[in-house]
Amino acid sequence: MGTALGGMGSRIGDGDPILMDDQELLRRANEARKHAYAPYSGFPVGAALLCADGTVYTGANVENAVNGLSLCAERVALFKAISEGQHAFSKLAVTCAADHCRPCGACRQVLHEHAPGMVVLMGTPGGSFVRTTVRELLPDAFSL
Ligand code: THU
Repeated sequence: MGTALGGMGSRIGDGDPILMDDQELLRRANEARKHAYAPYSGFPVGAALLCADGTVYTGANVENAVNGLSLCAERVALFKAISEGQHAFSKLAVTCAADHCRPCGACRQVLHEHAPGMVVLMGTPGGSFVRTTVRELLPDAFSL
């Protein structure tokens, strides 16, 4: 695996980061899923975001006793990356126990703002996945 960077991301090894193996990014999402804080839904979700420079940021859903304050795994990963100066994103893997984890509507809008062309891998803990893009998930999106 990659070497740690100064921030929260980690860089993958040799080679073109855009070619990072889908299964490896899904594996990172599954690892992150273990860190979910989901006592209310009992539904852990993990995400792994590959940036254009090869750095991977992971995220898990973080819930709260107050309705509306929970954050999805996808947005945790994206906000970690943006807050560390990242602005170009290649691929996002998201995994949960549902049949190929579909990003929610709010996450689609947020992902579209920053990476409309990004590849999205919607996976299961078992390793199967569906490959799509943010634009396909949110056609005709709102923007200012
Ligand atoms: N959740 C995510 O983290 N990502 C998704 O794509 C769908 C839903 C979380 C939100 C909440 O903590 C739990 O899953 C159940 O909705």
